[in-house]
Amino acid sequence: MMKQVILLVSLLLLSVSWTSTSTPIQNDFKRCMSTQFSAYTKNFEIIYTPESSLYSYLLQSTIQNPRWLNATTQPLLIVAPFHESEVQAAVLCSKKYDLQVRVRSGGHDYEGLSFLCQTPYIIIDLINMRSIDINVEEETGWVQSGATLGELYYAIAKKSQVHGFPGGLCPTVGIGGHLSGGGFGTLLRKYGLAADNVLDAYLVDVNGRILDRKAMGEDLFWAIRGGGGASFGILLSWKIRLVRVPKIVTGFSVSKTLDSGVTELVHRWQEIAPYLPEDLFIRIVIVGDGFNKAVQVSFNSLFLGEIDTLIPLMNKSFPELGLKSEDCIEMSWVESAVNFAGFPNGSLLEVLLDKKQLFKSNFKAKSDFVTEPIPINGLEGIWGRFVEEEIAIMIMDPFGGKMNEISESETPFPHRKGNLYNIQYLKKWEKNGVRESNRHVNWMRSLYKYMGPYVSKSPRTAYVNYRDLDLGTNNHDNTNYLESTSWGVKYYKGNFKRLAQLKSKVDPENFFRSEQSIPHYK
Ligand code: FDA
Repeated sequence: MMKQVILLVSLLLLSVSWTSTSTPIQNDFKRCMSTQFSAYTKNFEIIYTPESSLYSYLLQSTIQNPRWLNATTQPLLIVAPFHESEVQAAVLCSKKYDLQVRVRSGGHDYEGLSFLCQTPYIIIDLINMRSIDINVEEETGWVQSGATLGELYYAIAKKSQVHGFPGGLCPTVGIGGHLSGGGFGTLLRKYGLAADNVLDAYLVDVNGRILDRKAMGEDLFWAIRGGGGASFGILLSWKIRLVRVPKIVTGFSVSKTLDSGVTELVHRWQEIAPYLPEDLFIRIVIVGDGFNKAVQVSFNSLFLGEIDTLIPLMNKSFPELGLKSEDCIEMSWVESAVNFAGFPNGSLLEVLLDKKQLFKSNFKAKSDFVTEPIPINGLEGIWGRFVEEEIAIMIMDPFGGKMNEISESETPFPHRKGNLYNIQYLKKWEKNGVRESNRHVNWMRSLYKYMGPYVSKSPRTAYVNYRDLDLGTNNHDNTNYLESTSWGVKYYKGNFKRLAQLKSKVDPENFFRSEQSIPHYK
């Protein structure tokens, strides 16, 4: 389907005259792409200006949060390269004409940083760079940044029933943003982050050079595995380590409501889930139902084994949940990925390739890490807020296992040993509009304030892939390390300093910058 869309886009573009009503800067840029850097590119059909009939379609195609559709900024043009050399050319031409660059892979950035910018800018959209090459014998794969997690899981499953990859749950998330910010899902406790399983990568740096791990050096290779996208260059592709999964895994989802003793159950989960064997991942998803003044709490799990092993394990370690065989389903790992993505049991694997974004909605999100169990009264306070609200969601992902074995400084993602679980808060709404948005965003901020006493402190930490501009932003082009610590140490703790030092070295002009890009260390 996507191939057809891309082909259609290319064919239609052939009929669009690029000299028509483009502004001088747009024409200069195109000329630069075609002549100045002729060694790199000759493809005009990869450049979309607002006059192009497909510009809006492409701009909006992967935006996950429609809240940003009303944004007042839009790019002067969108470059959608097919070839690496075209990315190099786009970087060099942007520099030449002093245009900012926004890089987009899957478009899922919570704050729209992959497609919004306050100064004149272009988007380099990697939608056409999505090839995946799986090598089962070597237990590795090469995946381009524009591919999605769903496409990766599908490609692995086509080659092997006993391999997987420890990335996130949503199949439309892009590889480029996900891996550069960390990336975690149901295999987190067994294999760590997606970024922990990256072996090599290709990056276009600020000078337009393509660098692999050897050429970029270990410092930069460290930074791109969790330091957040778009600070150090444009990631073209990644060599990943495939991880082993059993042919049969087991999934369950058990839902409870407030009247069934759920508070004690959630409290107990906090004491158990981070310490379970690493083959067992049980997350909690809490959904507020303001209409019915109710809260639903679901315990969703992936076990890397069969039902017969799971039930005795659950009876021993978490008998309070009362799990029965009939609550469980055996399946392949890739079927569990389909399930966790929200598709019903028995769905075709091809749904993983679907670009329809199941979760597309206006939303504001925030995150926290929990290091001590939240007391019963703290949990009750959360329910009190959730029963008043429609579409308020809280997801609790247990850490422990492999995450405890990796040091805080191994990659820029520092949230390792000592963290019981991660919380993601999501507030969704249907009606777009400033007043509506403000109301929901304020509700989220007040929940975040309420949670302060119960979560990590000094610093109160956050996950960069659940980007939150409330934490702080770079207020001017040359914001320095000290000015940015308000948000930087929340995402990276002690690693923020190393990231800033490296940024000063590899991007001395601060070309790759955004509201939350890594600043210089000055
Ligand atoms: P997008 O293209 O918007 O990029 C995000 C950031 O990375 C931007 O700053 C962008 O400029 C930069 N970037 C993108 N591609 C780049 C490249 N090639 N080179 C350099 N910089 C690049 N996370 C998680 O860990 N587990 C999960 O289960 C989920 N689930 C989930 C569900 C849904 C519905 C959403 C919207 C998001 C998640 N996430 C998640 C969060 C997700 O991991 C995060 O938003 C990623 O940054 C998205 O990557 P994309 O490439 O899609 O985003």
